[in-house]
Amino acid sequence: MIRLFEAINLTDRNSFHVRQSAERLVEFDTAADVAAIFEQWKPARWMVLSGGNNILFTRDYEGLLLTPVSQQIQLLEEQDDEVVVRADAGVEWDDLVAWAVERDLWGLENLSLIPGKVGAAPVQNIGAYGAEAKDAIRAIHWVDTAEGCRVRVMAVEEAQFGYRESIFKHALKGRAIITAVDFALHRTPQPRIGYGDVEREVMARGGVSLHNIREAICAIRRFKLPDTAVLGNAGSFFKNPVVERAVAEALLAEWPEMPHYATADPERVKLAAGWLIDRAGLKGYRRGAVGVHERQALVLVNHGGATGEEVIALADYVIEQVQARFGIRIEPEVNIL
Ligand code: EPU
Repeated sequence: MIRLFEAINLTDRNSFHVRQSAERLVEFDTAADVAAIFEQWKPARWMVLSGGNNILFTRDYEGLLLTPVSQQIQLLEEQDDEVVVRADAGVEWDDLVAWAVERDLWGLENLSLIPGKVGAAPVQNIGAYGAEAKDAIRAIHWVDTAEGCRVRVMAVEEAQFGYRESIFKHALKGRAIITAVDFALHRTPQPRIGYGDVEREVMARGGVSLHNIREAICAIRRFKLPDTAVLGNAGSFFKNPVVERAVAEALLAEWPEMPHYATADPERVKLAAGWLIDRAGLKGYRRGAVGVHERQALVLVNHGGATGEEVIALADYVIEQVQARFGIRIEPEVNIL
């Protein structure tokens, strides 16, 4: 089904809660709906607006926004240990995680409570606590707007997944509309509790179980990350920078306690942007309606009534300060429009 909104206020459709509007927004369920929308409006400018959790509007959107709202989750097949599940793009991500945990299916629990919808998960390959969406994704169903809205299926190997990266941010940007995602989950326990405080929080809940891992992750997130319903934000505003090994070593000589993580490339090391911003003295920094979150410096927040421009000005200041202090240029992770 298609639902059209014109001159729509987007304040409640972006997690930063900036007050911008769009010329037209259409909610859709299926790939056939997408084809009908393109047939009817032939939009010159369009974009998918899913949960609006990773986006910062700095102006009104002059074009057509497409929002998936279909919410089905289906168990497709089960073979030995593996269970394939299909979730529509409009399913709330955490509803899918809860659904899997309730059915004793392993694979998504570390990604508990990430805000957003299923259709957005492959785009930036959402990740947290030692897991990434790509570890569980098997295939992506999408509509190819460059080929007459043909329905296509992409295997995980074709998605060019990387740290907060996929083909949907590059070659297929402005072309693909994701309608559903297939996940391969497991009956056999596959606990991943090595990241940060996860093990301690899991043990405090009585030991390793699917339920306890989910609860531990939810507790850590609730403590560190602001609830978008209360304080507008888009999660991590910046990506963690990946630098040459020599650069990391030089910084470690000065700050031995600096968090750093190996990457697939032995010559490159990932640093924690949150730590860099924090050590640049900006955690909890506030400027008018915008600020750096007081418990996780990687998150910029709207204390109320902020414009996108104010958030950008703060982000630029944070980038400059980190550059001045550490010589590293951090980059936004959020989509800026
Ligand atoms: N740190 C500080 N001060 C801060 C923030 C972090 O010193 O203000 C230190 C922490 O103590 C830790 C390190 O930096 O040693 C990393 O911090 P954390 O574990 O909180 O993770 P992160 O690298 O800041 C990433 C993701 C988060 C995800 C967490 C947990 C990115 C851009 N962000 O943050 O994802 O929840 O790991 O896995 O990769 C998101 O993308 O919106 C998001 C919240």
